[in-house]
Amino acid sequence: MSKKRILVCLTGASGAIYGVRTIDRLVHLGHEVQLIVSRWGAETLKHETGLTTSDLRQRVTRVYDEGDLSAGPASGSYQLDAMVIVPCTMKTLAGIAHGYADNLISRAADCSLKERRRLVVVPRETPLNLIHIRNMGVLTEAGAIVIPACPAFWHKPSTIEEVVDSVVERVLYHLGVLDDRKVEWTGE
Ligand SMILES: Cc1cc2nc3c(=O)[nH]c(=O)nc-3n(C[C@H](O)[C@H](O)[C@H](O)COP(=O)(O)O)c2cc1C
Repeated sequence: MSKKRILVCLTGASGAIYGVRTIDRLVHLGHEVQLIVSRWGAETLKHETGLTTSDLRQRVTRVYDEGDLSAGPASGSYQLDAMVIVPCTMKTLAGIAHGYADNLISRAADCSLKERRRLVVVPRETPLNLIHIRNMGVLTEAGAIVIPACPAFWHKPSTIEEVVDSVVERVLYHLGVLDDRKVEWTGE
């Protein structure tokens, strides 16, 4: 598969490990990864994994500040193959659903939708109120792929990483960077 440029965004929802493993898999697959971590994404990343944005900077091609609205991804003309927000807060999801592009993450997502590019969103919240549910519906209608951080267990995972990867695998598949799924139900 040809090398793709993927924008990965981490926001302040629980489940920073989903974002970290998504980055690592994309890099391992040979793709160019660009990164934005929101302020609260950085806090949850540190709290849950002990990693900082600087640690992730070593693994990716480029890191943008979430406040830098003059950066490339703020324009639809910037060449990206796909974008993923993993994990995605209900706040960021609401901003995108309502076209309220007040930082580089929501603006880049807005551009992805208007340019009809792949946008994968991995929300993490429970329980869901009607506003959350409606906003996910709006994003789906607008063309985004909403993949809630709901791991599967039918492949009998034995580590946290295997649990996490059941979600990451779906994310990669929907980003269009996998030829086939590693975790596949074959019916046997
Ligand atoms: C430890 C921690 C866990 C959080 N978990 C979630 C969560 O799972 N889902 C969510 O929507 N917000 C969660 N929040 C709240 C968001 O971080 C908060 O709404 C923030 O404003 C989101 O900003 P951002 O979308 O720009 O990252 C959490 C906050 C903290 C401090």
